[in-house]
Amino acid sequence: MADLNLATIGGDGVGPEVVDQALRVLDATAPRFGLSIDRTDLPYGGARYLETGQVLTDDEVQDLKRYDAVLLGAVGRPDVPPGVLEKGLLLKLRFDLDLFINLRPGALLPGVTTPLADKQPADIDMLMVRENTESLYLGAGGRARQGTPYEVATQEMWATRFGVERCLRYAFDAAQARPRKHLTLVHKTNVLTFCGKLWFDVFQEVAGDYPDVETDYHHVDACCMYLVSSPERYDTLVTENMFGDIVTDLAAAICGGMGVAASGNLNPLADALGPSVFEPVHGSAPDIAGQDAANPLACVASLAMLLTETGRRLDKPKLVDAGGAVDRAIAAVSPTFAGKRLDRSGMGCTEIGDRLIQAVEQTASAPSGAGVSS
Ligand code: IPM
Ligand code: MG
Repeated sequence: MADLNLATIGGDGVGPEVVDQALRVLDATAPRFGLSIDRTDLPYGGARYLETGQVLTDDEVQDLKRYDAVLLGAVGRPDVPPGVLEKGLLLKLRFDLDLFINLRPGALLPGVTTPLADKQPADIDMLMVRENTESLYLGAGGRARQGTPYEVATQEMWATRFGVERCLRYAFDAAQARPRKHLTLVHKTNVLTFCGKLWFDVFQEVAGDYPDVETDYHHVDACCMYLVSSPERYDTLVTENMFGDIVTDLAAAICGGMGVAASGNLNPLADALGPSVFEPVHGSAPDIAGQDAANPLACVASLAMLLTETGRRLDKPKLVDAGGAVDRAIAAVSPTFAGKRLDRSGMGCTEIGDRLIQAVEQTASAPSGAGVSS
């Protein structure tokens, strides 16, 4: 049995290109840690939908459960109506596999230009924990009396004690594992007095089990202001799904843009229903697809998270070590972007892949071991 049974879904637009580079980096890293990898590329995405009318069936989700992890490139294309692929693929994976955590690091890498004047990597080093299966994303609501002046639309925010508590416990564990041990809850308790208050109450209850973690609470609007004015306030943040969607884009922007924003849709439990799904936060960027122009850093950073998190969940330290090596390679390559934008650096997707591979070769230790098979 391979150490890692990996499924890849390149998806749409630049997705397949950035996944290709991530796999090249994986091929360079795995043998250095004696890791054998089985990989399967799955054809889900917009192209297949246009051909067959299928996005992702229940049987296909069932089938995914035999993999250890999934690396997803991007979903969405202009000739498919908005929502079809996002809901049918990405959100279906999140819900059906119960991937209740969306983990999004927000660290300014050395050399990368932040739009914030005078901020250094030491000032921007956050870990964001976004609840991933509840809130407005549940899709509860409806429209009635359409076409009349009395038309009504509702969209409901749902929070369950079970869903909130498991997310908060994960966030406290994550905060406890970081040097600062500081966790900020982000919500809007002054207006969302039902859902916000539930989050706040459970936050305080769970905090009792983590006396060494310092806690704070910010309203989401204030959080947006602080992310721009004083991001050094933040270490670990936890928030509900919709606010997490918005705040993590803002956090990516202060880290230099989407070019390096990684994410993991996780079910971190040992008895998880199936694999976690890792994806760069950026979209499919159809305008530059097929031009070797996308920056693969975010996808490679998602691969690093995939290795680390899957290694932890399956108790395979070699995977965790390999994830660390990929992270170090990214940190070694990031100064190349000094004075440039991450998304228009002039370096091609393959060229950045080459640099990362070189960095893996220079920074990773090289024990002898098994190779990579595909
Ligand atoms: C994200 C994206 C998705 C979300 C979309 C594509 C459904 O914006 O992963 O942040 O809203 O969660
Ligand atoms: Mg988003």
